[in-house]
Amino acid sequence: MHELTPREIVEQLDRHIIGQHAAKRAVAVAVRNRWRRQQLKGDLSREVMPRNIIMIGPTGVGKTEIARRLAKLVQAPFLKVEASKFTEVGYHGRDVESMIRDLLELGITMVRREQAEQVQEEALKRAEERLVSLLLGEENTTETTPTNANASAADGLTDSGAMPTAEDLHKKQKEEAAQHERVRQRLLKKLQDGFFDEREIEITVREKQTIPVMGMMGPDQMDPGMTNMLEGLMPDRSRQRRVTVQRAKTILTEQETEKLIDHEKAIEQAIERTEQTGMIFLDEIDKIAGSSDGRGSNADVSRQGVQRDLLPIVEGSSVVTRQGVVHTDQILFIAAGAFHSASVSDLMPELQGRFPIRVELDALTRDDFARILTEPDASLTNQQEALLKTEGLTITFTPGSIAAMAEMAAEANASMENIGARRLMTVIEQVFSEISFDAPDLAKKGTKRIEITDEFVRERLSEIMDDEDLGKFVL
Ligand SMILES: Nc1ncnc2c1ncn2[C@@H]1O[C@H](COP(=O)(O)OP(=O)(O)OP(=O)(O)O)[C@@H](O)[C@H]1O
Ligand SMILES: [Mg+2]
Repeated sequence: MHELTPREIVEQLDRHIIGQHAAKRAVAVAVRNRWRRQQLKGDLSREVMPRNIIMIGPTGVGKTEIARRLAKLVQAPFLKVEASKFTEVGYHGRDVESMIRDLLELGITMVRREQAEQVQEEALKRAEERLVSLLLGEENTTETTPTNANASAADGLTDSGAMPTAEDLHKKQKEEAAQHERVRQRLLKKLQDGFFDEREIEITVREKQTIPVMGMMGPDQMDPGMTNMLEGLMPDRSRQRRVTVQRAKTILTEQETEKLIDHEKAIEQAIERTEQTGMIFLDEIDKIAGSSDGRGSNADVSRQGVQRDLLPIVEGSSVVTRQGVVHTDQILFIAAGAFHSASVSDLMPELQGRFPIRVELDALTRDDFARILTEPDASLTNQQEALLKTEGLTITFTPGSIAAMAEMAAEANASMENIGARRLMTVIEQVFSEISFDAPDLAKKGTKRIEITDEFVRERLSEIMDDEDLGKFVL
């Protein structure tokens, strides 16, 4: 597996997030440090603690976006949770550990997917063999080993008059087996060529039974651990299903994959990987910092409770899961928060100490907005172009139009609430509100191209910008 260098990580993040270099570098180094530590041997490797990070910055400047993109990059179990969720009724005091369980689940999924990939060829081969048997009516639809050569060898011999010798019999059997194998091979070829794809056959599927709703409580409201446990207790249910051969191939391949995967090994590996490389992104950490005002309120007590629950996990403890114990010492935490009304120093000192790296994200400027509108791989303008292309309209943006939208967004952020780059979404929507609605009719009437200009943008937005109340509502 190729391990990305810090520079490569930053380059990848640059494709989606404009600016915020300090934050990108910090997360890149943190990720790389995991790998470095793994190269160390013995005691020293155990001594090296992860350098947890807090990202601090105003709303809508890319904190969550960095985490989201990072998650896709690193080939490690990566969980994003909102710290504020743990203050909600029913979560507090109970379930901070659930994030470790969730992280492990991600690890298991990851390892199993890798294992599935390794056995993919073999699983497909076996599934095709079973399909051939099914097509020949040799495999009864339930999952038993195919009974080969069901034509009795003796049958064909009774006519020949002479008593067959053992040798004849043997030869005959061999011929028939060979003949049978040729038939199978021909069928297999046709199957692989998609000849039977649309034909329907009957197969057995095993289904996990869902848990019946317990009283007033739906499975969603139950402790996930509890749900898992109950589901584990429910027996699988076998069911006959008529499906197309094409679909059957997928289902049987899945079944064969399951059989080929070593589940115990997968879990062992997943625990190891979760402990050594797992990362948790704790979003909205500021929401659990006791605000400096409102001291002693219930909310404050609840928030401090969550901090206390978090501490052992961040410091390193053992969390019991259904699959085994997970040690959290080496799990990397990246926290983020706007810290509008609270500051990092409002967190418990012990918790602050566990996040030695602080990076500030910058408020975004007009120039950043212009770049955000155009540069990222799936920028808002690219998205808009692609969406309207489906209606047969080609949209182009003049440089002036981009500048105007960036300017208006910055202005709206300054005069109303500063919501960062999120403002661009509403600006774009407003600029396109009519075109989006009329697009199919425009295309029908022969309009092929629309150029978005500076004037057009201003015209669409000025009315709203001038009327503050309207602006607050629309933008
Ligand atoms: N620097 C940036 N470059 C590109 N897009 C950005 C940038 N900052 C924000 N965005 C876009 O703005 C939206 C909101 O950003 P994000 O979710 O990262 O905000 P945040 O910093 O986590 O804010 P909050 O504190 O409110 O959670 C996302 O859709 C993201 O794509
Ligand atoms: Mg966020």
